[in-house]
Amino acid sequence: MKYTLTFSQLDHFACKMAALVKAGDIILLNGDLGTGKTTWSKCFGKCLGVTQTIKSPTFNILSEYYSGRLPLFHFDVYRLNEPEDFFEIGLEHFQAQSGIMLIEWGNIIEPILELPYITLLLEHLDETHRMVSIEFTHFPQERKEEIEKCMF
Ligand SMILES: Nc1ncnc2c1ncn2[C@@H]1O[C@H](COP(=O)(O)OP(=O)(O)O)[C@@H](O)[C@H]1O
Ligand SMILES: [Mg+2]
Repeated sequence: MKYTLTFSQLDHFACKMAALVKAGDIILLNGDLGTGKTTWSKCFGKCLGVTQTIKSPTFNILSEYYSGRLPLFHFDVYRLNEPEDFFEIGLEHFQAQSGIMLIEWGNIIEPILELPYITLLLEHLDETHRMVSIEFTHFPQERKEEIEKCMF
């Protein structure tokens, strides 16, 4: 499904989604540079209850936050050379901690991901709007509907 959202609608969507996520959820955040992946992550984290300022993890690949309702593992995998390198940063370790994995440039690791995940794609429309698509892979039907409703 594809929707056109204003920036404030996008922020609202991130916040509502933060209320619905459950331990172990994986969200891939895709889209070109400047489409709003990091901004979306900041809103999502804030509404999850993270008290620290969320910064783009571009240079360290991962930032971990434990002050929210659930642990938040915020990745930016743009600099991984091979999708398999993602396993080396310890996929199992993070799952064991039952947090939320929010992965900017998640399309890079998508080929190796066998678990259920949500994909958000942000596309530039104009100065104040973005196209947002949401897809679910191996995801329970009833949660799909609940999460999709967050966009409104
Ligand atoms: N939700 C938003 N509210 C306001 N501005 C936004 C929003 N999303 C993106 N932008 C604008 O786009 C710029 C780039 O966003 P950013 O989140 O850094 O993109 P990405 O992480 O995809 O490269 C921001 O500096 C801001 O000007
Ligand atoms: Mg970014």
